[in-house]
Amino acid sequence: MQFDLGVSQQVEAVYTSADVVEQRRVVRAALALRPGDRVLDIGVGPGLLAAEMAAEVGPDGRICGIDISESMLAIAATRAEVAGGPTIELELASAGRIPHAAESFDVVVSTQVFEYIEDVAGALEEVRRVLRPGGRVVLLDTDWDSLVWRSSDDERMRRVLTAFEQHLADPHLPRTFDDVLTKAGFTVTHLQAVPLLNARYDERSYSAGLIDIVAGFVPGRDKVTDVEAKAWADDLRGLGSGYFFSLNRYLFVASAL
Ligand SMILES: C[S@@+](CC[C@H](N)C(=O)[O-])C[C@H]1O[C@@H](n2cnc3c(N)ncnc32)[C@H](O)[C@@H]1O
Repeated sequence: MQFDLGVSQQVEAVYTSADVVEQRRVVRAALALRPGDRVLDIGVGPGLLAAEMAAEVGPDGRICGIDISESMLAIAATRAEVAGGPTIELELASAGRIPHAAESFDVVVSTQVFEYIEDVAGALEEVRRVLRPGGRVVLLDTDWDSLVWRSSDDERMRRVLTAFEQHLADPHLPRTFDDVLTKAGFTVTHLQAVPLLNARYDERSYSAGLIDIVAGFVPGRDKVTDVEAKAWADDLRGLGSGYFFSLNRYLFVASAL
């Protein structure tokens, strides 16, 4: 998926929903940041987590964010100044080549990013390089097989979701991540499911925003047409109190020896 300006703005909007605010609360609890911590956020996106972390590490801490999308970095830059925190340092760079010296960070965090990365082992090698000995990494990704989304047309829903999986390098990363992290030399110290649940249609919810992102991505893929994508979206929006959406993120905390 290209995180151009339009998609970046859509992601920013869904990431300000109460569902994702709650997800960030869970991530920050797992991060357990202390004043003065030096943190790298890989795939910093719209900078919402980075800004929250800046307030936690305080003026003696350091928050750096990298991303491969200039549009995302431009949005994150609007949040770079945080009262009581360090200025967030933002750079255009990929997880596969982190522009920081060895052992520069106490903590590395990356939420909803590794599922987009082709060479996960290479990125984890970079994470290990920039973490100080004993530093920790917090990763959160979705297993898209955990998705339960009610529709009036199950066959169309299946095709739309199969087409949407093409926006990721690995839509099922969490099920292998413990293994992958261990092979990369990390010790997984904590693992938890982070559910998102919308049991009725609400246009301010995460999944209502996701409808637009999916409907924008799938036309022309797996034979899904524009007309079908629109009908799929209209169907979901029309379900009202019969609407149902549930999806699991998975959170991993691991330490580098
Ligand atoms: C779904 S957004 C998540 C943004 C942010 N981490 C959050 O949770 O709010 C995915 C982000 O990962 C970035 N990204 C994808 N592949 C990347 C890579 N190889 N290196 C760095 N960033 C990457 C995208 O540009 C996008 O900003």
